[in-house]
Amino acid sequence: MTQRPYVIDEMISAKAIAARIEALCVKIDAEFSDTDKLVVVGLLRGSFVFIADLVRELDLPVEVDFLEVSSYGNEMQSSREVRVLKDLRSGIERRDVLVVEDIVDTGHTLSHVTALLRSRKPARLRTIALLDKPSRREVDFRADWIGFEIPDEFVVGYGIDYAQRNRNLPYIGKVRFTGEAES
Ligand code: IMP
Repeated sequence: MTQRPYVIDEMISAKAIAARIEALCVKIDAEFSDTDKLVVVGLLRGSFVFIADLVRELDLPVEVDFLEVSSYGNEMQSSREVRVLKDLRSGIERRDVLVVEDIVDTGHTLSHVTALLRSRKPARLRTIALLDKPSRREVDFRADWIGFEIPDEFVVGYGIDYAQRNRNLPYIGKVRFTGEAES
């Protein structure tokens, strides 16, 4: 079975993303202005491009760490358990933490991750997601900062993949299927 053919339509340009990150970083700088050092935690793998641009726009002292959790996949809708595949290198007790995610979709991933990290007693814990699909929410979760609210579309680019492709596009694009998979 081959993959369904598709094209990618640009949804959010690289320029618009850069401008939005600049504006968000002013707010994050203000929120953490008194921090010794902010631990910026990227959720692998989709946030790797976003976190790279975000930390370069922040004026704060930062440390960068990564967390990888299992995604449940389409066929496992019943089990929303999120397992840690790669944990943080550093402890976060009494520290300031910013969790960076690519997309909030159903909300399960970030609500599990924030519960887990809160149990480690950070001083402050905030979340930022580049994209938010509020119409897909299954649990009540709101990130502290959002780049862009988008409709229920499958998107790729700027770190976000479809079957491990398209992460290297500099913009966010919408996947539009143009045919059926060949068997
Ligand atoms: P949630 O737990 O449903 O909020 O899932 C968030 C994760 O689902 C994101 O980190 C992405 O990995 C994945 N995801 C959700 N929507 C998309 C999309 O449109 N394109 C690619 N991945 C997506």
